[in-house]
Amino acid sequence: MTKVQFFGAGLSGFQEKTLPGRLIVLEGTDGVGRSTQIALLKNWLESSGFAVLDTGLTRSLLAGRGLKKAKEGHTLGAKTMDLFYATDLADRLENQMIPALRAGFVVLTDRYVYSLMARAIVRGAAADWIQSVYGFALKPDAVFYLKIDLPNLIPRVLASTGFDYWESGMDFLPGDDMYDCFVQYQTRLLATFDQLARQYGFDTVDATQTVNKVFSVLQRKIRKVLPKEAPVVDGARVLAIPSGRPAAAAEEDIEGRREEFAAALAAPADAAKAESQPRAKRARANSKRQIARAAAKKA
Ligand SMILES: Nc1ncnc2c1ncn2[C@@H]1O[C@H](COP(=O)(O)OP(=O)(O)OP(=O)(O)O)[C@@H](O)[C@H]1O
Ligand SMILES: [Mg+2]
Repeated sequence: MTKVQFFGAGLSGFQEKTLPGRLIVLEGTDGVGRSTQIALLKNWLESSGFAVLDTGLTRSLLAGRGLKKAKEGHTLGAKTMDLFYATDLADRLENQMIPALRAGFVVLTDRYVYSLMARAIVRGAAADWIQSVYGFALKPDAVFYLKIDLPNLIPRVLASTGFDYWESGMDFLPGDDMYDCFVQYQTRLLATFDQLARQYGFDTVDATQTVNKVFSVLQRKIRKVLPKEAPVVDGARVLAIPSGRPAAAAEEDIEGRREEFAAALAAPADAAKAESQPRAKRARANSKRQIARAAAKKA
């Protein structure tokens, strides 16, 4: 994050003007494929040498358990739930995301203020009120919106967890047919996401494509947001793999570059980058000479 900016007044007591990490948001409606992509991206980024924090709704120490319990009981009103989710995000920002950004991590977040705004607006909250609630939140480096339409979403949800009470808006919609409620709720939610996409300038990704296609589009876009230099870990520079290929290909790359990695990690921190190439070359040349000598002896 080159420059720290908040949506409004920001977090109290926050002083820094810049943070070295990157805050990357994946947004999209229920069941669109966010978790699938976050898992692939985390693997890819880590195998490229970046430290990654992945986070998402209801994962705060302060409010996570309470929120899950509240959802079981269905007893809290819509506005209370909005503020409970805001508390969860504020706690994660202050205690997980900002410390990770300060330490140079790539923070991947599964949903951010936008899903929370969309859900609140669809349930009748005033848009300017819910947007002002999130004045404490950091503006992210990038927001990728996984966009899908209802005909593509329904089979995807049916093939995974099936329809759910909250994801069908049954807490506020009249009627007791879950399918009808899902259609109504998701139609309204998708329209609200589209409005927010225009307002906040989301980078929209066509989520109707295959998992691998969505992944490679995200890789290409995220590479532009990453720092040019790979991070320094434990005093040695870890080599980044500037590869746009899927995680399996990145793993093959690591396999082929083990020597190079070992050389970089063994070298002192400031000399690691400069020395890793020649050291790896020398190691390869040595092993070639040894193979040639062994072959000559045999002959
Ligand atoms: N691009 C895709 N094409 C087809 N199926 C997909 C695609 N991406 C994910 N899926 C499948 O859709 C289902 C939902 O995916 P996933 O759990 O990643 O979505 P999610 O957005 O995290 O859902 P939730 O809102 O429930 O957290 C899973 O069965 C997953 O395998
Ligand atoms: Mg998920």
